[in-house]
Amino acid sequence: MNLNGYRVLKPEDLVAAHGLRAFALDVLNGLSETPKRLPSRWIYDEEGSRLFSQICELDEYYPTRTEAEILRSHTSEILERAGKRELDIVDLGAGDGRKTNIVLEAASKQVEDIHYVPIDISEASMASLVMNTRARFSDLQVAGIVAEYFDGLHWLSNSNDRRKLVLFLGSNLGNFNRVQARVFLRQLWEALNDGDQVLIGFDMKKNIELLLAAYNDKQGVTAAFNKNLLKRINRELGGDFDLAAYRHFATYDVFSGAMESYIVSLEQQTVVIRELQSTFEFDEWEPIHTEYSYKYRPSDIDALARDTGFGIVDQYCDAKSWFTNSLWQVEKPTV
Ligand code: AVJ
Repeated sequence: MNLNGYRVLKPEDLVAAHGLRAFALDVLNGLSETPKRLPSRWIYDEEGSRLFSQICELDEYYPTRTEAEILRSHTSEILERAGKRELDIVDLGAGDGRKTNIVLEAASKQVEDIHYVPIDISEASMASLVMNTRARFSDLQVAGIVAEYFDGLHWLSNSNDRRKLVLFLGSNLGNFNRVQARVFLRQLWEALNDGDQVLIGFDMKKNIELLLAAYNDKQGVTAAFNKNLLKRINRELGGDFDLAAYRHFATYDVFSGAMESYIVSLEQQTVVIRELQSTFEFDEWEPIHTEYSYKYRPSDIDALARDTGFGIVDQYCDAKSWFTNSLWQVEKPTV
């Protein structure tokens, strides 16, 4: 209670009041729906993040090395366009930072006054990202923000008027459906100033065999990554999922143009999740939807930029046209 006689409840207070964290609420909602679903963002606890790094090393998972190849060949050019002086490189979803490092490598040689500003909701990942980046690029100014992406961006836009280059790499946009992607990009546009730029990674539509292989690797790393959702429910919410009684399944929907990942129950079974005080029934072969990874055509990228107020400055792709990094500029009418 403050002196004015009211209290402002913050999200963390509300979560505490419900006795449930956001994760628990998503699990309760998702497993209560038909068809069942669990959002892919909850895969990324410590083990899930480690498994994703392992996926990035797989022969079948082409996006990481393809994007890295594009960034290695074109970052200097991209930074050239972003302007040499006073640049804030804002990183949304740096992950283990390996692709960011390619950009920062070029930036530290080329740009005069550059600040690296990662934004992440997890303070633990931020701490290690900042420490590693400082150790690797001693000349670089690193100033991370622990916040939701758009809160962080609005705050940053209001706190200085340096030119911004926002990185949203790794085809992370692909986890949003076509409507959600537009909402996300428009929020990004809102949070930036006229002339600021964004560099977005898009995984392109391609031979379906290659897509299927990338999400069904032979070693089963992707299966373990996907099923980490169940493991996490067991660990954090007192669930009793028997992991051997479920299989990973990934398929390509030719209509929506997305890879879709599922966890399929191999038998009829009942699962107890203690912290939710709930049980969930599974039929034999019943799926839980876990992830969308949308794929794009060049015309999809044009439409996304046009619909959300960006101009396309330039696009960079690999020799096989498997992946595209698209550089956009915020266009705001001057009033
Ligand atoms: C990190 C969301 C880009 O969708 O390709 C990898 C996650 N899922 N293998 C993707 C993922 C299965 C990845 N993104």
